[in-house]
Amino acid sequence: MNIIRVENYEEMSKEAAGYILKKLRENPRITLGLATGGTPTGTYQHLIEDHLKNGTSYKDVSTVNLDEYIGLNPDHPNSYRFYMNDALFNHIDIPLEQTYVPQGNAVDCQEECERYEKLIKNLGGIDLQLLGIGSNGHIGFNEPGTEFGSRTHIIDLEPSTREANARFFASLEEVPEKAITMGIASIMKSREILLLISGASKKEAMVQLLHGEVTEKFPASILQLHPNVTIIADEEALGLEA
Ligand code: F6R
Repeated sequence: MNIIRVENYEEMSKEAAGYILKKLRENPRITLGLATGGTPTGTYQHLIEDHLKNGTSYKDVSTVNLDEYIGLNPDHPNSYRFYMNDALFNHIDIPLEQTYVPQGNAVDCQEECERYEKLIKNLGGIDLQLLGIGSNGHIGFNEPGTEFGSRTHIIDLEPSTREANARFFASLEEVPEKAITMGIASIMKSREILLLISGASKKEAMVQLLHGEVTEKFPASILQLHPNVTIIADEEALGLEA
C-alpha cells in the first residue's frame, strides 16, 4: 500500500482531488466508485472548485456509490443519494443518469443488491474506488464479521456505526438500522483504491489497517491484499500530531 502523508484534513482533501483529477484526465470515461460520510466532502468541494475554475468535464464519467440506508427515499436529506447530489453531482456536469447509488427504498432490497452488482459488472467494473474507513474497520458498510467473499448485500448496522452517524440525524433513533452496501469482494475487484483517513479518532484503525492481521474481524485489513491501494492520511490519523 502506497501511503501519502499530509498535514491535515484540508491537505488530504486537496491531494485526493488532485489524484482523482489526474486519473480523470488519463481516462475521461472513468468509472469512479464513491463514498459518503464526513471524510470525502472536502475532496468533493475541491472537485467542484476545479470544475468551475478549469472546466474539467464529467460528461463521460460514471459513478457508483458504495452504500445507501434502507428505508430512506432518495430525496430524504440523510439519504446517500441526496448527499451525493448535494455534495457533488449538482455542481458538476455529470449526467445524473450516469450516477448510481443503491436504492434503499426498493420494494425488494435483496433484488436491488443483485441488480446493483450486475450494474457494476455492466459498467465494466470500477476503475478507481474512493473509500473512507469506520473506526471499527468497516469499508462501505461492511461491518466486522462480513465475509471477504461478499458481494452487494443487506447489512445490519452496528450500534457504534449508528452512533457515529447520528451526528447527521436529529436523533440516534432516526438512524436506519439496515443498509445496502457493496460487498468486500465487490470493492476488492476495483482496479485501484484510494483510501482517505483523517483525524485522531481513526488512529487505532490506521494501526490495524497497516500492521494488523488480515481478518474479517477488521474488514479493511483485506486491503493489504489488493495490488493497487493508495492511502492519503493526515498526521492525526497517523498518530504523528505534535
Ligand atoms: C460511506 C462509507 C463508510 C464511511 C465510514 C467513515 O459511504 O462507505 O464506510 O466511509 O463510515 O465515515 P466518515 O467519513 O464520516 O468518518
